[in-house]
Amino acid sequence: MTYAPARARELLARIAEPLRAAPRSPELDALLARLESFAALSDEQLNAASALEAAAAPLGAMRAIPGPSRGLVGATSNELKKLAEAELAAQAERAAQAALEAERKASDFDATLPAARVERGALHPIVAVTRELEDLFTSMGWTVLDGPEVETEEFNFDALNIQPDHPARETMDTFWVATPPGAPRLVMRTHTSPVQVRAMKRLKPPFRAIVPGKVFRNESVDASHEHTFHQMEGLVVGKGISVGHLIGAMKTLLRGIFGREIEIRLRPGYFPFVEPGFELDARCPFCKDGCSVCKRSTWIELLPCGMVHPNVLRAGGIDPEQWTGFAFGLGLSRLVMLRYSIDDIRHLLGGDVRFVSQF
Ligand code: DAH
Repeated sequence: MTYAPARARELLARIAEPLRAAPRSPELDALLARLESFAALSDEQLNAASALEAAAAPLGAMRAIPGPSRGLVGATSNELKKLAEAELAAQAERAAQAALEAERKASDFDATLPAARVERGALHPIVAVTRELEDLFTSMGWTVLDGPEVETEEFNFDALNIQPDHPARETMDTFWVATPPGAPRLVMRTHTSPVQVRAMKRLKPPFRAIVPGKVFRNESVDASHEHTFHQMEGLVVGKGISVGHLIGAMKTLLRGIFGREIEIRLRPGYFPFVEPGFELDARCPFCKDGCSVCKRSTWIELLPCGMVHPNVLRAGGIDPEQWTGFAFGLGLSRLVMLRYSIDDIRHLLGGDVRFVSQF
């Protein structure tokens, strides 16, 4: 519908007609006079804004309009109002278009140029591998748990059966956190294992959980040692859990990581919180007869693990006579390095954009 003053005039006349025929009153005369003053406007003056005003006049003076005419006058006024509003909206739209046109003409805007590339970023390789492992384990019904990075001495060492004078406390090169004398001593957790005991205290057996996370050690940093790195703990507690379950779970884990069956071997390993404890080696996924990754041995030391020590179950409030379990401590940072052939651990958390933008 395009706006024509002639149409507005026509509607005004249709409103005025029954009013002229009606019995006179001062209000009606005033209304008629107003309507006539609108009708007397030139076409330019009778624009959308003044037509809107003309439409409002009878609506605002309904009381003066004799009963039988009210319906017709009201309906016609509404029609005039709609006509004027539509024109005002169209004008606003034309003004916006014109402003846009003007802006385009004034700048060197070129609508045919391809859009600027959106930088989407990508997941850090540690995050990518963590999520993949979380998917794998949750699909098998395991829970993903978290724990504090500033940990109590009790959870980090004592509850894990690491005796006060045990060399493991030293070999772990602990960062101690300054605490007031007499307060419980705090450490930057040296491993994800303390979450084993937290899990036992929180969950009722049987349960299965993984704990991916950051750990900290006061080490001299070189290509294979960082003060901050990632591990993923695993813990299963249930009835009759055996080394067979441990081996099965580890094979599934490796199949998930490398996408095919990986041969494994167990060697005895010592960790105070497991008995027996093992070092699980995986057949080197990168070669057949020795390469630099496996140091020519065709085996890669990947997964320390073992059967949860009864003392640890007890520290977690679980009766070792009824329940058994296995645990493993996957070196997540090391796994990420293997996976992407990263030869220096310092790249992982070094914050160099040239490194992370390769993934
Ligand atoms: N917490 C150990 C470490 O950081 C790794 C480990 C060994 C975890 C054996 C385990 C385990 O759960 O069973 O060196």
